[in-house]
Amino acid sequence: MTNPGTAPRAHITGWGRYVPSQVLTNADLERMVDTNDEWIVSRTGIRERRVAAADETTASMAAVASLRAIRTAGIDPDEIDLILLATLTPDYWMPSTAALVKEAIGNTRAAAMDVAAACSGFVYAFSTAQAYIASGLAKHVLVIGAELLTRFLDYTDRSTCILFGDGAGAVVVSASNEPGGTLGVELTTEPQGAYMIWLPAGGAKSPPSSETIARGEHYIRMEGRETYRFATRTLASTALASVRKAGLEPSDVSLFIPHQANIRIIEAVAKGLDLPMERMFVNLDRYGNTSAASVPIALAEAVNEGRVQVGDNICIVAFGAGFTSGAATIEWTADPARGVAGDVAVGPADVHVRLPVDWDSVDPIPPALAELMARPGLVNPPLDDVVPGEPPAEPAVPAASTSGR
Ligand code: UT7
Repeated sequence: MTNPGTAPRAHITGWGRYVPSQVLTNADLERMVDTNDEWIVSRTGIRERRVAAADETTASMAAVASLRAIRTAGIDPDEIDLILLATLTPDYWMPSTAALVKEAIGNTRAAAMDVAAACSGFVYAFSTAQAYIASGLAKHVLVIGAELLTRFLDYTDRSTCILFGDGAGAVVVSASNEPGGTLGVELTTEPQGAYMIWLPAGGAKSPPSSETIARGEHYIRMEGRETYRFATRTLASTALASVRKAGLEPSDVSLFIPHQANIRIIEAVAKGLDLPMERMFVNLDRYGNTSAASVPIALAEAVNEGRVQVGDNICIVAFGAGFTSGAATIEWTADPARGVAGDVAVGPADVHVRLPVDWDSVDPIPPALAELMARPGLVNPPLDDVVPGEPPAEPAVPAASTSGR
């Protein structure tokens, strides 16, 4: 969808990301499952990933990333008209995680909803924001990708548990009549790949029961080779379609920010577009695959590291379960220096996500990760939920050690 002449343009004006402080290395995984660092690095490029603490949720990570993006944009949280949160690991089936984030960031006005398109979710949500802005329905849209995947992994399945990590990224997309901003968007869905990456139980087709749990159907399942084939086929073609809709060629794009699933997939994209790897942003070595969070985390890091300058054309591109894929080509217009200040200004202690009254959740940490999470220096939060309005219990160790990045 190329921007019609008179419609407002969708510019990224704010960006932010948050990852938990706990690191799960390949060496840690070697002690949990039959794998090794050499295999993981050579087949995926991943060296470590982050794990959310017991008192963190998809909403809490999303709220930190969001406030950082809002601070970077230099607007008040209440100026946001619409909140779109892409995730496959919402805090609950209902309410939406976006609704929880809305309150946590201090917004009273916005409509808020979740977007389900798996790892492509952020790009799908971004394209929705672009449409709301081009139609004049919204001036500022908060677009978030946030995932807490480490609670949905089977730590006896070495083909999946080594891949995924936790985190959140967010952008503020704002209406402007200035040139630049979002230039071309491409989205695809191929349902014949529906069961290549899936989480079988918990939905209406197979509600959760002791039987589904005994079968391990509450964990992510994946046909790795089929998914790999789809990704290498579709990522470059989806990116190319978006770039051409922007009236550009791949050589006009200074940086591609692809979904961080596997270094070999990203290398295939570079090859498919006939570009050197220097034009591909990569941070999967540090975070693994954070699904819908991976593109916005990578985008925020790329900008904060000085890889994106005003006037540059960039392309965000993702693929995921569904099978879905999506890409957006954007001419960057915001001062890149603003992001670091936004990051510093907001920490996890600045957000409070509403918790339910009269309901104590069980320990959310998977038993396989219990030893890791008990390491000295990490928080050991009380598992009693905090009733809204009541002061939170004192943490077991100083709060300074809880802050993620
Ligand atoms: O956001 C979308 C999420 N999904 C993806 O991006 C997944 C896309 N697929 C991939 O990235 C790759 O297919 C994987 C990384 C998942 C797997 O790499 P692969 O090169 O396709 O390996 P494979 O599945 O063909 O397995 C090769 C061998 C097998 O052993 P045999 O049968 O050859 O003896 C596996 O059992 O590697 C074995 N293997 C492992 N060995 C050590 C599989 N996982 C592991 C492991 N450690 N973690």
